Amino acid sequence: MCGLEYRGYDSCGFAIKDNSKIGLKKTKGKINLLKTTTRPGAYFTLGIAHTRWATHGVPSFINAHPHHDCKKKIFVVHNGIIENYRELKAYLKKKHHRFCSDTDTEVIPHLIEEFSKRHSFFEAFLKTVNMLKGSFAISAITSSEDALFFARKDSPLIMGVAKEGFILASDIPAITPFTKNIVHIKDGWVGRISRDKFEMFNFKGKKVRAAAEKTDISLGAATKQHYAHFMLKEIYEQPHVCARLYSFYVHNTRIEFKDLNMDIKFLKSLKRIFIFACGTAYHAGFVAKYFLEKICDIEVEIDVSSEARYRRFKLGPDDLVLAISQSGETADTIAALREAKKRKAKIVGVCNVLGSTITTESDGLIYTLAGPEIGVASTKAYTAQVFSLLLFSLHLAYLRKSISTAFFKQCLSELRSVSKHHKTILKNAASIKKIAKRFSRFGCFLFLGRGINYPSALEGALKLKEISYIPAEGYPAGEMKHGPIALIDEYRAVVCIAPRGELYSKIVSNIQEIKARKAKVLAIVEEKDREAQSLADAAIHIPSTKYSQISPLLVALPLQLFAYFVAKNLGCEIDQPRNLAKSVTVE
Ligand code: F6R
Repeated sequence: MCGLEYRGYDSCGFAIKDNSKIGLKKTKGKINLLKTTTRPGAYFTLGIAHTRWATHGVPSFINAHPHHDCKKKIFVVHNGIIENYRELKAYLKKKHHRFCSDTDTEVIPHLIEEFSKRHSFFEAFLKTVNMLKGSFAISAITSSEDALFFARKDSPLIMGVAKEGFILASDIPAITPFTKNIVHIKDGWVGRISRDKFEMFNFKGKKVRAAAEKTDISLGAATKQHYAHFMLKEIYEQPHVCARLYSFYVHNTRIEFKDLNMDIKFLKSLKRIFIFACGTAYHAGFVAKYFLEKICDIEVEIDVSSEARYRRFKLGPDDLVLAISQSGETADTIAALREAKKRKAKIVGVCNVLGSTITTESDGLIYTLAGPEIGVASTKAYTAQVFSLLLFSLHLAYLRKSISTAFFKQCLSELRSVSKHHKTILKNAASIKKIAKRFSRFGCFLFLGRGINYPSALEGALKLKEISYIPAEGYPAGEMKHGPIALIDEYRAVVCIAPRGELYSKIVSNIQEIKARKAKVLAIVEEKDREAQSLADAAIHIPSTKYSQISPLLVALPLQLFAYFVAKNLGCEIDQPRNLAKSVTVE
């Protein structure tokens, strides 16, 4: 259970079977609270556990999982949302079932209990699963059988096959300490695990073949090592991630995407690309939009997945969709991808987790190779997405002959240097820490950028707000005069992203306008910068690049470190910010 706490942490609990008795423990809050109430050294062979991110009902003892039936013989944990739980609850209440929580989940053990009156436990479980609408990864135990039952629909679930037994989990990093043999349970499968075997079926009860595969995720990758937080460790991994991506995709001066699975003719004649993603992944896609438009001479439309899925885009077989997601399990992005698939668009998943829903449902894949990301605030996965997408844009531009060979080579060499530049930025962390201390007293931040660094401003603001809870807004700097400048006075802090490039003089003017209204300015500038720096109250330097369009890859690191140190100064829970979860598998 500890390995999965980053997926939700407002309450938790477990149920374990000891002979025919099932014991239940749960609590509001994090797992360490549960540990203090648990007998050390307790031995058991069958159990289920859960960490919760509240959807129905406040975080509380009552709403924490596992949930049980009337007789406390059937216990269930569930991720996802049961959309028809109101109807099911009304039906069960008529049959005299008593409920104690506000959750949608609680209908599940009661339905199994109801159907168990006339069916075997497995038949009752299967019947229940078929009545549920919505998304679910469920596992259940009962006092009457020495087995664990599970089902999956639109919520992630995997099974580890270890020497000592079997483990079910939502995510691979949770089980790599025990085994690297993983069965990817497919959508629409149910199963039963007993002491020494497992069986899987489709929802009609027909047996399906499931085999274990070896995962390459190492235990080291999912531990904090000597870092104070996963977020800090993951920030420091970025030079390695970029170097790894470069050597994976670039061979001499050739870019090769082996799993792209797209016809060259299709890529050459492509007129439009649609990008769907959420949160930080959306910001990575936004950077890619600027780059693709600039060098590929192509129309790029981008939207957050939760909006995209309900929009009536003109989308068809001639279009390419990039579905970007670290986890590959984000419900909104999966829904947008499925909508695009219905309309026969070609889908490329840009994803960090092999075997995730997005990788299995896409036609092609750009694997982002960042390694497991545990900190809830995305850092290395963002850089990996931007880096892979810039490589993809270059590949496309090369195929379409929309750039010269000299430019292609120059860009490649700039991308190869990113890892070195990251190391330089990280060496400067102590000075970013000092600046963050000075700026921690501000109650409101604006992040400004222009062109390809407008998305960087959005991402900088998101990082700060999600881990420090300070209101922060990202804006295109040129838009200030159309409204947001009304916010500016001596009590505001403004982070201006001002690397050199075609819009440099414009952002310098924007800094002047802000200074004229007395706000405090922190500028992110290149090493040799004079102008922007001379206007600002503080400056963080990034190495200079010949081609300014790759600067988002550099700017990201100071923005992440700044957010990290501000949050640390304020004593915030950096790896597990309030109200958030790492994988958002509900809509
Ligand atoms: C913010 C953050 C989120 C995710 C978003 C999408 O730091 O991590 O905004 O980027 O929830 O998640 P994935 O990339 O897994 O689809």
